Amino acid sequence: MNVRRLVLLALSLALLTPACNKTSRSTNSDPRSASNAAATPDEFADARATFVKNCKTCHGEQGNGGPVKLEDGTKLKVPSLREGHALRHPDSDFLKQINKGGDGMPAFKDKLAPPQINDLVRFIRHDFQGGATPPPERMRSPMKDMKMK
Ligand code: HEC
Repeated sequence: MNVRRLVLLALSLALLTPACNKTSRSTNSDPRSASNAAATPDEFADARATFVKNCKTCHGEQGNGGPVKLEDGTKLKVPSLREGHALRHPDSDFLKQINKGGDGMPAFKDKLAPPQINDLVRFIRHDFQGGATPPPERMRSPMKDMKMK
């Protein structure tokens, strides 16, 4: 009889113990999922940092552009990367502009690696243009291509 009672007691304890563990585990799961979310990498984090470092002075943190006065006193009218021309230019135009610069913008081909420049273009489309699909590359006539070479 005594043994049976002990067994019953042990059994009910055994049943209770995991139940307790369960509740404490479920309260613990919140911070765990929060850290999971924080660990999800932002695929544009690097490009954003590159942009802040190299492009923000002229284009502004949000890509709005506007009138800019450089340290040497040069005044520039920087176009918005969010609207207007920037929406009508295909990626190849962006790549060319970033690599070669021009019209007040410095060339970045020797400062940034090609993958960094590609990421900047994707970042501009994503952050400033709301994920807009870039316009298609222009069709070039073969004649024109031949002349250009
Ligand atoms: C010294 C100022 C300056 C800096 C720094 C600069 N830009 Fe520019 N950017 C300009 C100006 C001015 C234009 C407009 C050029 C023109 O009129 O053709 C321009 C044009 C562009 C365009 C073309 C926009 C369009 O309408 O098609 C892109 C894309 C661009 N910049 C990206 C960048 C990126 C990315 C960086 C950093 C790696 C950068 N720029 C750094 C001044 C700057």
